[in-house]
Amino acid sequence: MTNSNRYVRPAIDRTIALQASPRPDSRSPILKLNSNENPYPPSPQAIAALRSINGDSLRRYPEANADEFRHAVSREFDIPPDWILVTNGADVLLDHIVRACAEGADRPVVIPTPTYPLYAHLATLQPAETIAIPYQTTAATTPVDQPDTYRLPIDAIAAANGAITCIANPNSPTGHTIPLEDLRRLAAQLTGVLVIDEAYVDFQQPGTASALELVREFEQVIVLRTLSKGYALAGLRLGFGVANPRLLSGIAKVKPVYNIDAIAVRVGAAAIGDRAYKDARSAMIRQTRSRFTQALRDRGFTVWPSSGNFVLLRPLIGSARSLHDELRSRQIWTRHYPQPDLADQLRITIGTDTQMQQVITTIDDIAPQPKSFCHGATG
Ligand SMILES: Cc1ncc(COP(=O)(O)O)c(C=O)c1O
Repeated sequence: MTNSNRYVRPAIDRTIALQASPRPDSRSPILKLNSNENPYPPSPQAIAALRSINGDSLRRYPEANADEFRHAVSREFDIPPDWILVTNGADVLLDHIVRACAEGADRPVVIPTPTYPLYAHLATLQPAETIAIPYQTTAATTPVDQPDTYRLPIDAIAAANGAITCIANPNSPTGHTIPLEDLRRLAAQLTGVLVIDEAYVDFQQPGTASALELVREFEQVIVLRTLSKGYALAGLRLGFGVANPRLLSGIAKVKPVYNIDAIAVRVGAAAIGDRAYKDARSAMIRQTRSRFTQALRDRGFTVWPSSGNFVLLRPLIGSARSLHDELRSRQIWTRHYPQPDLADQLRITIGTDTQMQQVITTIDDIAPQPKSFCHGATG
């Protein structure tokens, strides 16, 4: 497509639109493992809340600050309500932060790469300069389960001095976790906003510290959460940020007054209150991730250790691209990364045990291997 739309600003005109992945019909046999959706239904309490909504509650505009949901988050995480900003998913909050804080080369967006592509995309639209700083890695072909495969380049990021620094933790598509101490060391050196995007936090090992505690220590830190992943509500479009009210009040100027609809507020409040359900389903996904990882490693794949509901991998023989295409022709959708910093790898979302067994069986069908899915795996 040519860039020739005179109606929009040059920065918009130059930008290549993000492509949403097609959404198969719910009766379709396609196994969609390319968007990190949760394979389980949302909490029964969320569904009951959805059923409780009556027409009259939709007649009026919703509360401007999504208070029912905000108070549920406040109770659940022990955070004062005025430290919480609710948006239509984490993506919209990222959009607000970039719009509020970044501009040109003087107010750049700094990102350690590889990471979630939306950060750079939003900077391009703004426009603001993007400064990409590669993660420090051990050799990308190392097939071992070592925790320090991707290290945060703290000093280089601090030296880049972004108006915003965006870090996904756990990161996508690599799946690695950054130790809280590294984030604290970085926050202590930054004067601009530090965004810590915890979209995948629910799939970390239990007991791993969240960056929420940094918000109390540093005025410029904002932690992002979403209900799209751990809470299985990607279709609801609900997320929130936690930060000091001084930072939040600036970002909130960008948000439309009535941004969250009455349905999302009610359903989201019920979902966030049902921690037991979310924790149980997240534990199941972690166990499946562990079994799936082992089954792939048994077949010689390089699989990065992951703290998300997905794994990044490379086959022993042949290219990830051709595996992606073979799986796709057999109705299994995965995400292929051709860019140089990922050098031909595949990201596969973790579904149910049955779904991941289907992936393994299909991989064996493409290139037969003797091992079974449950071979020696532990949670
Ligand atoms: C790192 C990261 N942040 C944010 C999001 C988007 O979250 P939401 O659905 O709340 O917009 C995603 C979605 O895949 C993601 O991978």
